[in-house]
Amino acid sequence: MEKVREYLSQQEVESKIDELAARINQDYAGKALHLLCILKGSTFFMVELAKRLTIPVTIDFIQASSYANGMVSAGNVRIKLDLQESIENRDVLVIEDIIDTGYTLSCLLELLQARKPASLKLCTLLDKPSRRVITVNVDYTGFQIPDLFVVGYGLDYAQRYRNLPYIGVVDIVAGE
Ligand code: IMP
Ligand code: MG
Repeated sequence: MEKVREYLSQQEVESKIDELAARINQDYAGKALHLLCILKGSTFFMVELAKRLTIPVTIDFIQASSYANGMVSAGNVRIKLDLQESIENRDVLVIEDIIDTGYTLSCLLELLQARKPASLKLCTLLDKPSRRVITVNVDYTGFQIPDLFVVGYGLDYAQRYRNLPYIGVVDIVAGE
């Protein structure tokens, strides 16, 4: 069995989201921002961030599959669910929960860039830079973390724990 221990408290996560939102409000002042939420993991982060944005905001969803299995990510990304609206000539901010190898994001960003947004930036709640295989330019980062498998705040382990209001680390407990 596995156990989850708290790594970043709800308060730590939410005050970081306050900071990110303040930067985004400043950087996009006078503009309208189109948020692209990457399903499913980024939903919790996107909602909390969006609630703190004071500029005009619209939201769309995209789901990519990296054929990930449990804790392992494969370098093979496809679109499971596409956006509903065009992003052409819009200021787009991609909202991601965590960047690990970078495979998912590098494929997705390339695909989105081809649709000619006015601008395309990336905001991630968590980043594991030591795991990076492909370079990804991140514009807004919540926390850089070491090579840990984390859950909660939208992040899952085999689809579980997304609803935890904090970020936890999964420990595998032998013999349980
Ligand atoms: P990448 O393509 O390797 O960067 O993988 C990114 C995706 O892998 C994320 O969007 C998550 O769905 C998943 N992932 C990577 N690390 C973790 C983790 O520590 N906990 C939960 N999911 C993770
Ligand atoms: Mg996942």
